[in-house]
Amino acid sequence: METIWTIAGDETSWPEWASRMATSTASETMEQLASDLTPGSQHWALDIGCGTGRSFLPLNQNGYKVIGIDPIHEAIIISQSRAKNENLSAWPIWATADRLPIRNESIKAIFAIGTLYHLSPIELEKALTEIKRVLLVGGEAILHFLDLDDWRRKLGKQIRIDDIPMPSYQAVVTCFCSEVVIRTTIHTSGITVQNSVLKTQYDEEGERRDWFFHCVRQR
Ligand SMILES: C[S@@+](CC[C@H](N)C(=O)[O-])C[C@H]1O[C@@H](n2cnc3c(N)ncnc32)[C@H](O)[C@@H]1O
Repeated sequence: METIWTIAGDETSWPEWASRMATSTASETMEQLASDLTPGSQHWALDIGCGTGRSFLPLNQNGYKVIGIDPIHEAIIISQSRAKNENLSAWPIWATADRLPIRNESIKAIFAIGTLYHLSPIELEKALTEIKRVLLVGGEAILHFLDLDDWRRKLGKQIRIDDIPMPSYQAVVTCFCSEVVIRTTIHTSGITVQNSVLKTQYDEEGERRDWFFHCVRQR
């Protein structure tokens, strides 16, 4: 079972990405995924790798108050301004996915869009364990991964697992793998996959293949 890691060249970094995305709003897919969650009834959602806070509004609209976490200061500053200017119930804070500053069993929904495939394997394993720890029993998680055959794997240089920088957010590391590998990795953390959906889309360069896993903490 093959898994591929890439690393983007020097011209790309998360602070640059955050500046570019400062005013962009939620994609249709994000809106759909947020509305697929059981309504929040003013419980907490955790947006892991919240970036510039694009998901805050759709999560609020489905009844969630949001804690956003991201390790990039530029992203936190932009997402804090977005929350303030748009009067959103959202509180972005600095943290990494593998060490969540959140109480056990306190979160009803986790939204991790565009984030988990940017972690090293060690960080991903810890992040999934953290996701299980902070979720309420019965809580849901939407976890986004990239398929092995997604064309974007050609964008970065392929690297060996030993060459992945730690922490991986220092660079833009991206992992591509098969559905079986994703499923097995999630299963190992003790979270139950309820369903997985592959969304495909054609760019000029090729096919984008995004996996969305809707998961639940059963016990
Ligand atoms: C492609 S962006 C997606 C941002 C946001 N979820 C969205 O869809 O607009 C990836 C985000 O993951 C964050 N990130 C990278 N490594 C992370 C880590 N170890 N823990 C949490 N977030 C991380 C980056 O700073 C960046 O904001």
